[in-house]
Amino acid sequence: METGSDDVVIREARRGDAAGIARVYVDTWRKAYDGILPVGFLDKLSVATQTKSWQRVIRAQDVVLVAEASGADGERIVGFASGGLEMDRDEFFRGEIYTLYVHPEAQRRGIGAELLVEMLRALRDLAPVIVWVLEANEGGRRFYEELGGVPVRRGIAHVGGVSLDKVAYAYFDVG
Ligand SMILES: CC(C)(COP(=O)(O)OP(=O)(O)OC[C@H]1O[C@@H](n2cnc3c(N)ncnc32)[C@H](O)[C@@H]1OP(=O)(O)O)[C@@H](O)C(=O)NCCC(=O)NCCS
Repeated sequence: METGSDDVVIREARRGDAAGIARVYVDTWRKAYDGILPVGFLDKLSVATQTKSWQRVIRAQDVVLVAEASGADGERIVGFASGGLEMDRDEFFRGEIYTLYVHPEAQRRGIGAELLVEMLRALRDLAPVIVWVLEANEGGRRFYEELGGVPVRRGIAHVGGVSLDKVAYAYFDVG
């Protein structure tokens, strides 16, 4: 996948995008969480299972955005983000970004930043907005910090049979 010379647009997800989202999800998890989550858990991630799961998410009320690249070989999804109501009954934060991923081959070209700006805009009625990141995910933490996120909460994530520290960043001034 080469996105260097491609145009990238951010748009709302459609049901037919589930397979493209699933492919980005699986490839990105395997790369980003290598050495953080158990190998067996990452190996078992499946594009087919994720496609079904994302079909459900897109049908639900959540905001789901995709970054779509168009090039000589057509259009493909290279990143996505989802968000909605804060999920843990936080006393202060009302909105939450649930996921934000850019395919490893499309990273560091500003696509993640565009997805974040558009997601914060979409969630502006739910501000202030929170986003959780595994503490061990240093790239993810740097990304949110560079884009103005303020660390506000700490917790434990239970993923793939292990418990890991997580950090929440807040965006107060959105949209
Ligand atoms: C984090 C992620 C979404 C960033 O997407 P991206 O398109 O690569 O990010 P951008 O190109 O918009 O980066 C914007 C700025 O954030 C910072 N940044 C992004 N990735 C970084 C990294 N791995 N290490 C350090 N800083 C980083 C940089 O300052 C970057 O600007 P620069 O490239 O001019 O230096 C992407 O790397 C990803 O999907 N990672 C794996 C999953 C993940 O961590 N998701 C977020 C937590 S759920």
